[in-house]
Amino acid sequence: MNKLNRDCKIRWLGHAAFHITTATGKSILIDPWLSNPLAPDGVMDSIDAIDVLLLTHGHSDHLGEAITLAKRFKPAIPCAFEMSVYLEKKGVANTSAMNKGGTQIVADDIKVTMVSADHSSGIIDEELSPVAIYGGEAAGFVVELENGFRFYHAGDTNVFAEMEMIGRLYDPEVVMLPIGGHFTMGPKEAGEAIRLLKPKYVVPMHYGTFPILAGTPEDLRMEIAGSGVEVLMLKPGDTLT
Ligand code: NI
Ligand code: MN
Repeated sequence: MNKLNRDCKIRWLGHAAFHITTATGKSILIDPWLSNPLAPDGVMDSIDAIDVLLLTHGHSDHLGEAITLAKRFKPAIPCAFEMSVYLEKKGVANTSAMNKGGTQIVADDIKVTMVSADHSSGIIDEELSPVAIYGGEAAGFVVELENGFRFYHAGDTNVFAEMEMIGRLYDPEVVMLPIGGHFTMGPKEAGEAIRLLKPKYVVPMHYGTFPILAGTPEDLRMEIAGSGVEVLMLKPGDTLT
């Protein structure tokens, strides 16, 4: 089932990359590694506007083509303070530094809240440093669209107890959770995350990109069998409407 009926489109571009189009035509891009091995053909050229760019952390499989896209489309970029310093250094304008617990309204009416993630956020950029640059802490985002629809993109993370609070405070209807394991939580931990968050729908991400990211949506379904939470199984390139 790929029907949300929340008057927006959520397209999975493989790995942790999502492109959301809102009811009023705003374009939100998250973790744009558009050259990932599972990315749909021609995806880079299919993006013709970005109003909001969200970057959960500084690892290259999330920053991806962010700098090129940011220079081309000049989106609002609410991001961790240290990430904004880095992006400005790379010639990117329109960053808007924040930190966890903060909420910003960007592109007129898109509400973005930065929440915790249990992960790291070093940026590898050999032009600037021979070792990883501190990118702030890894984060997740809760986004509320202009029509009140809310989703949570967890970024890369393990499960953590505060997810219960994210569910209680922001009540996201859809959550995008990593399930691949190894660098993030796998299906077992994601099952616990779902019990804490209590969303309506889960979109699994960050699996299958490489053999090492071995968790599968089927494993996750077994973990949460009987919970009433629906796992939406997208293929890269699929759109929830
Ligand atoms: Ni990462
Ligand atoms: Mn990652």
